[in-house]
Amino acid sequence: MKVLSVVGARPQLVKLAPIAAAFAATEHEHVIVHTGQHYNADLSDVFFSGLGIPDPDVHLGIGSGSHGAQTGKTLAALDPVLAEQQPDWVLVYGDTNSTLAGALSAVKQHLPVAHLEAGLRSFNRRMPEEHNRVLTDHCADLLLAPTGEAMRHLATEGLANRSVLVGDVMVDVCLRVRDAVLAGTQARPELPEGIDPEAPYLLATLHRAENTDDPERLAALVAALADLPVPVALLAHPRLLARANEQGLKLAGGSLHVGRPLPYAALVAAVLGSVGVVTDSGGLQKEAYLLDRPCTTLRPETEWVETLHDGWNVLVPDPAALGHTGWVSTATRPTPEAPRGEPFGDGRAAEQVVRVLAEHVRR
Ligand code: UD1
Repeated sequence: MKVLSVVGARPQLVKLAPIAAAFAATEHEHVIVHTGQHYNADLSDVFFSGLGIPDPDVHLGIGSGSHGAQTGKTLAALDPVLAEQQPDWVLVYGDTNSTLAGALSAVKQHLPVAHLEAGLRSFNRRMPEEHNRVLTDHCADLLLAPTGEAMRHLATEGLANRSVLVGDVMVDVCLRVRDAVLAGTQARPELPEGIDPEAPYLLATLHRAENTDDPERLAALVAALADLPVPVALLAHPRLLARANEQGLKLAGGSLHVGRPLPYAALVAAVLGSVGVVTDSGGLQKEAYLLDRPCTTLRPETEWVETLHDGWNVLVPDPAALGHTGWVSTATRPTPEAPRGEPFGDGRAAEQVVRVLAEHVRR
């Protein structure tokens, strides 16, 4: 079997790591195509080197642009690559513009498409990611779902007969890296200047268009983070820096300390060193959960509803509600005591993905 993975943005590289490792342990051929949606070393290169992912076989060098331009350029660039490679499966990951372009290029050429992380829904049609994942699910041939909840969404949309529950490959990589961090084999993370790693701090990220692109909302979020009662280590995504710069907004100040995005192992170490996470990232909500840290999510909804049980994750859509609500600060609340289940699987999802792809290959 020959499988061609299309990746392009940071979260896809994290998911690619366990998948590439699972393929490497088999006879199957695995081709990696990097669209170049993310091109900063901090968002791309460090994930290949840090997670031991083989270099991409093809790099399309697409870069930034409006949604249409970025998706369209990727689609056009993928056509000849897929035509030449003729894989048994085109494997697309998650919800980015690279995912949608990969799925479209493949289905138009009658190449079978499998969607990893299928069935996630925010039900918020203002999010570009929601369109990407819904469209990808509906055109793909095989839907690899991470959770029972995702399977239910797919069934509701009439897609049950194409769906298989495989678990979440992010668990595979997160737990493996956590164990390496706890074993002391990883260097200490480079936290933003002014953050004392021995003292309590919150780890924060902010990059979603809904939060960064409205100047009033971004200013309110930054002010709320700066007002928190413990230091906040903000790992700033390039989109956040670009929008803040355009809007003349200063990010650092008060409790807020600004640094660069971290490579994956350093991020896991930084979460483990923190007293909690504040974020609008999908992946980081789950990583906080898997690493036993309370998470506060700066969005009105989450696709990862399992993290909300017992207060492990709390949604805070209104920036004004982030700090002191009554006597307790939401962001600095203590770690819940309730035990967590394994809603995202047992950390062996990547092997399951390879097995399911092989079982469903068209002869
Ligand atoms: C993308 C995904 C999002 C994912 C996120 C992870 C889409 C629609 N969004 O959002 O689902 O959670 O990646 O990071 O696909 N930029 C750089 N250097 C880079 C990449 C981006 O400077 O390497 C800046 C550019 O100003 C660019 C902006 O970030 O215009 C947005 O990048 P883009 O890829 O469109 O979306 P992300 O916000 O990264």
